[in-house]
Amino acid sequence: MGGSTPFAPIRRAAVIGAGVMGAGIAAHLANAGMKVLLLDVPPTALTPEEAQAGLTLADKPVRNRLAAKALAALTKRQPQALYDNAYAARITAGNLEDDGAKLGDVEWIVEAVVERLDVKQAVLERIEAARGAGTIVTTNTSGLSVAAMAEGRGESFRNYFAGAHFFNPPRHMKLVELVPGPDTDPELLVRLADICHRQLGKGVVVAKDTPNFIANRIGTYGMLVTIHAMRRYGLTVDEVDALTGPAMGRPKTATFRMLDLVGLDTLLHVVDNVRERSDDEQERAAFARPPELEALAARGWLGEKTGQGFYRKLGRQGAGSA
Ligand code: NAI
Repeated sequence: MGGSTPFAPIRRAAVIGAGVMGAGIAAHLANAGMKVLLLDVPPTALTPEEAQAGLTLADKPVRNRLAAKALAALTKRQPQALYDNAYAARITAGNLEDDGAKLGDVEWIVEAVVERLDVKQAVLERIEAARGAGTIVTTNTSGLSVAAMAEGRGESFRNYFAGAHFFNPPRHMKLVELVPGPDTDPELLVRLADICHRQLGKGVVVAKDTPNFIANRIGTYGMLVTIHAMRRYGLTVDEVDALTGPAMGRPKTATFRMLDLVGLDTLLHVVDNVRERSDDEQERAAFARPPELEALAARGWLGEKTGQGFYRKLGRQGAGSA
């Protein structure tokens, strides 16, 4: 990295993927004073869940427009104390296909596309081709292998690449997990911690590149145990949320409200990731896919982002992770 602290603040960033997290991260970076390029990725295929729900490829751009709408809604909702009026004007939206070359002008690129290793690897390959020398690249993965994501990329890319995992919603959740890959420059980690802490107001923890890192390894396990208990004791979704919400001091993060906020497809990816990669038999068993989640996802009911998950009336604020 060739510099010594304190580092110059980041002025120009890009976020790839304008979904639940990408839109929120873009808003947070813009609020911190950065100019942000928010690029969605034009879809080329349906997920099995979308195909099963009877969607066609023509429906997918609608979802991208919804992401743009979500960003606009974020803009309107920000309390004055947290966000200044000018921050939305600092965000330029586009798509990776048409605007990829603009990545050459930014200092930091945040990858926030769907939680699938093959998709992330393909997007990172395109980022590598477009990035300028010295541009930092981070992934917002919830817990896929950072090392596997960097495979096949050149040394310069690998030195400037790490996991920087924001939590949902990015403006409120205070934690960022930093996850170095095998070739991450140690000084990059120091710089990222500085950016996250001083520029973005976050607390930082450095995690090992293990399945789901720290917070999701524990948090997702807790959710799965809760769903298992619901089944065992014949409880309803409302009863579980009554028990695991305000009554436990979590006014906005009751189990199923949080699942809707996170997105059921994302949660299933996160669950699969531990089950497929853990070397602990008991843990693999605990991370079985809950049939309740699979049933909803198969109908395309993915939570707040599709307008329907465990709850129909959506749009409430909450906090969570994945
Ligand atoms: P999302 O489903 O809201 O958005 C996914 C984005 O990926 C969209 O921009 C979509 O256009 C793009 N995408 C979908 N299929 C694609 C494909 N085949 N090729 C290229 N791009 C594709 O997902 P969300 O929740 O924003 O998650 C993004 C990342 O952030 C994931 O790695 C997820 O694990 C992580 N994350 C999610 C959290 C959550 O609470 N939802 C919290 C923290 C991290």
